[in-house]
Amino acid sequence: MKFQALASLGVASVSLCSANTIVLPRGASPEVLAAEPLAGPLAALKRALPNSPSGGYAPAVVDCPSNRPTIREANSLSPNETAWLELRRNYTLDPMISWLSRMNISNFDATSYINGIRNNVTALPNIGLAVSGGGYRALMNGAGFLAAADNRTNNATNRGQIGGLLQASTYVAGLSGGGWLVGSIYTNNFSSVEDLRDGSSGSSVWQFGNSIFEGPASDGIQILSTADYYSTIQDEVGSKADAGYNTSITDYWGRALSYQLVNATNGGPAYTFSSIALEPNFQSGSIPMPFLVSDARAPGTAIVSLNSTVYEFNPFELGSWDPTTYAFAPLRYVGSNFSEGVVPSDGSCVEGFDQAGFVMGTSSTLFNQFLLQINTTAIPQTLKNIFTSILADLGGDSDDIAQWKPNPFYGFNNATNRNAQTQELTLVDGGEDGQNIPLYPLIQPQRHVDVIFAVDSSADTTYNWPNGTSLVATYQRSLNSTIENGTSFPSIPDQNTFVNLGLNNRPTFFGCNASNITGPAPLVVYIPNAPYITLSNVSTFDPDYNDTQRNAIIQNGYEVATLANGTLDAQWPACMACAVLSRSFDRTGMQVPDECSQCFERYCWNGMVDSSTPGGDYTPAFKSAETTFSGAKRVAASASLVVAAVAATLLL
Ligand SMILES: *[C@@H]1O[C@H](CO)[C@@H](O)[C@H](O)[C@H]1NC(C)=O
Ligand SMILES: *[C@@H]1O[C@H](CO)[C@@H](O)[C@H](O)[C@H]1NC(C)=O
Ligand SMILES: *[C@@H]1O[C@H](CO)[C@@H](O)[C@H](O)[C@H]1NC(C)=O
Ligand SMILES: *[C@@H]1O[C@H](CO)[C@@H](O)[C@H](O)[C@H]1NC(C)=O
Ligand SMILES: *[C@@H]1O[C@H](CO)[C@@H](O)[C@H](O)[C@H]1NC(C)=O
Ligand SMILES: *[C@@H]1O[C@H](CO)[C@@H](O)[C@H](O)[C@H]1NC(C)=O
Ligand SMILES: *[C@@H]1O[C@H](CO)[C@@H](O)[C@H](O)[C@H]1NC(C)=O
Ligand SMILES: *[C@@H]1O[C@H](CO)[C@@H](O)[C@H](O)[C@H]1NC(C)=O
Ligand SMILES: *[C@@H]1O[C@H](CO)[C@@H](O)[C@H](O)[C@H]1NC(C)=O
Ligand SMILES: *[C@@H]1O[C@H](CO)[C@@H](O)[C@H](O)[C@H]1NC(C)=O
Ligand SMILES: *[C@@H]1O[C@H](CO)[C@@H](O)[C@H](O)[C@H]1NC(C)=O
Ligand SMILES: *[C@@H]1O[C@H](CO)[C@@H](O)[C@H](O)[C@H]1NC(C)=O
Repeated sequence: MKFQALASLGVASVSLCSANTIVLPRGASPEVLAAEPLAGPLAALKRALPNSPSGGYAPAVVDCPSNRPTIREANSLSPNETAWLELRRNYTLDPMISWLSRMNISNFDATSYINGIRNNVTALPNIGLAVSGGGYRALMNGAGFLAAADNRTNNATNRGQIGGLLQASTYVAGLSGGGWLVGSIYTNNFSSVEDLRDGSSGSSVWQFGNSIFEGPASDGIQILSTADYYSTIQDEVGSKADAGYNTSITDYWGRALSYQLVNATNGGPAYTFSSIALEPNFQSGSIPMPFLVSDARAPGTAIVSLNSTVYEFNPFELGSWDPTTYAFAPLRYVGSNFSEGVVPSDGSCVEGFDQAGFVMGTSSTLFNQFLLQINTTAIPQTLKNIFTSILADLGGDSDDIAQWKPNPFYGFNNATNRNAQTQELTLVDGGEDGQNIPLYPLIQPQRHVDVIFAVDSSADTTYNWPNGTSLVATYQRSLNSTIENGTSFPSIPDQNTFVNLGLNNRPTFFGCNASNITGPAPLVVYIPNAPYITLSNVSTFDPDYNDTQRNAIIQNGYEVATLANGTLDAQWPACMACAVLSRSFDRTGMQVPDECSQCFERYCWNGMVDSSTPGGDYTPAFKSAETTFSGAKRVAASASLVVAAVAATLLL
């Protein structure tokens, strides 16, 4: 199992093992920061709600609502999502007109085009964004993309910029490190990347300079010493165990992460993921719907593969579209004693299990390994000992999983559900099946997504750059008639072709010609991490980043998204708009504008393949001038050391 986890982390590509088990694309780098003990009255805080009934980290029994919660078959969108979409699709109209107009496709009147179809939702473009895993690297590179796409970012609506795409989108998905980004934005009331990056007095949000081993800075405002930080986390996790729930290293990991991601006292132990659905800006449809993705481990197995069942978290539900589980549970009531799809009359209803940090930790269980690096850090030995004893209590077999027990899908869809006979649903990092970009929720045919901007910060190659492995995995899964269950995906070439043709070094569109695909599938705009102004290929295992380096990598991600503010291609913003409109043009029979034809010529993968093995390691050149940031660490150097340390820990 340890070997598997290692392979999944992409360590195999650093030659520690040459597994032919699936190799997980992955990049890494979360952060951590501390507690913000200032907390004003909770009611005044504008962020996800601290609505766990226990008031803390532990779930608690509540009175069952008169309509007792039930599990449903995955044969449609939830009624909640359907109702929400009616609001959201309408809400995207004006942002879409504004964005498309600014992207300025020559000889195309975006305002009249969108106004002409504004009452016909099936004709309108439907946009999804997906941010890959890859730890803190993925968080920061993904943040650069989201900042560029956000009309609230300084200057993002100037010429050559793409701000406003986020406001025009219906869905935003994250997984593992990308899930930290999405989770952090949504638990902080849809904060902008700039606000999270710049933080605020007394808040430890996005302060990645203090690793999760140290906890938040004690800068005179913070009151938590590292020892207090540990004992706080231990007490919180202990409260869940005392309430009768299994805990694993993922609970500790999720708590530690939350200090960096959730801008609330002690990382907001009472914040739930389902509370996002209760926020006014989400309820009104004024912001996109977030998804986080996890994989399930079948009972009695340690291997997660492409045919593993994939689960999505959204603010309403946890569940899977796969033909195995094929069911959704109301997220708010996960933790209740479901059996055969209902909470029996002698069973209790529970809320608070879907704690926001625990959900983010569940999507990123591979990074539980971070905690095992404790001995390589500089913190005092006494603290290391405390921590090691906590880990020892947990036992090794739960190192890299999250325990969702009771299993909401117990006794449901017995004939196909691999977890129907187990009391525990074992969830792991969403990238463990090789699909490191969370496309899964966005390619479900019921969602009718037309275009996905797929931001890839995976560490596929020796030096932590992506090489298309994640898209290859999703494509392969879509070809397996046993598991694909109605999803289809554009044709994707092999990784050698990605590298040989540079498809992993600049944006590439896949699936431009809808009639070439077996079923309805979105056009995928692949946005791979690449060096523009700094080496953004930091190791998955580097646990801390000072503010200078953090900002440089976020800025690099911004340059990736805008092709260096349009300097590498002044038509790029228009080309993004063409990608957004492509499927809509197909449906309405609109003639494709000339500039769009030029864009498709330039950015669509044209079917060419070069599968020869590339010579040497992939070491891309800077696309803009490298900018020197004082105080930034040279990244590539520290990486191998840390990897070696982790590998040593695991192999022992
Ligand atoms: C989902 O829909 C049900 C039924 O309409 C409603 O009772 C419930 O409050 C909704 N949940 C949320 C989180 O909006
Ligand atoms: C659509 O949104 C506009 C504002 O963007 C609002 O005035 C209008 O009432 C909405 N229509 C529906 C049907 O929700
Ligand atoms: C961003 O877009 C939203 C939604 O259209 C709009 O309400 C807001 O005014 C815009 N903000 C800026 C700074 O352009
Ligand atoms: C809505 O648009 C679709 C094309 O996407 C078209 O087939 C349909 O006829 C339109 N419906 C109305 C009422 O105009
Ligand atoms: C925004 O644009 C102005 C004018 O071009 C420039 O002076 C400023 O530095 C830019 N700000 C950022 C944060 O890029
Ligand atoms: C963090 O929370 C504090 C207290 O509610 C708030 O004043 C501040 O703006 C928040 N900071 C960020 C970056 O969201
Ligand atoms: C397709 O998926 C099924 C069930 O998940 C699995 O048993 C089979 O090995 C897969 N086929 C291929 C070619 O991967
Ligand atoms: C998934 O596929 C692999 C081979 O591709 C096979 O060994 C494994 O048994 C399959 N698992 C399930 C649960 O179908
Ligand atoms: C998806 O799987 C379910 C459950 O096995 C099945 O009933 C349904 O027909 C499948 N859908 C498609 C489109 O294959
Ligand atoms: C840290 O080192 C101590 C003593 O060398 C050892 O007992 C412990 O298992 C190590 N902890 C971890 C998490 O590897
Ligand atoms: C499904 O499995 C559960 C648990 O073993 C069992 O109690 C139940 O009777 C089964 N349901 C059906 C419809 O077979
Ligand atoms: C692409 O990444 C995969 C996964 O790490 C690796 O096995 C493969 O060798 C890489 N191929 C190229 C050409 O980089």
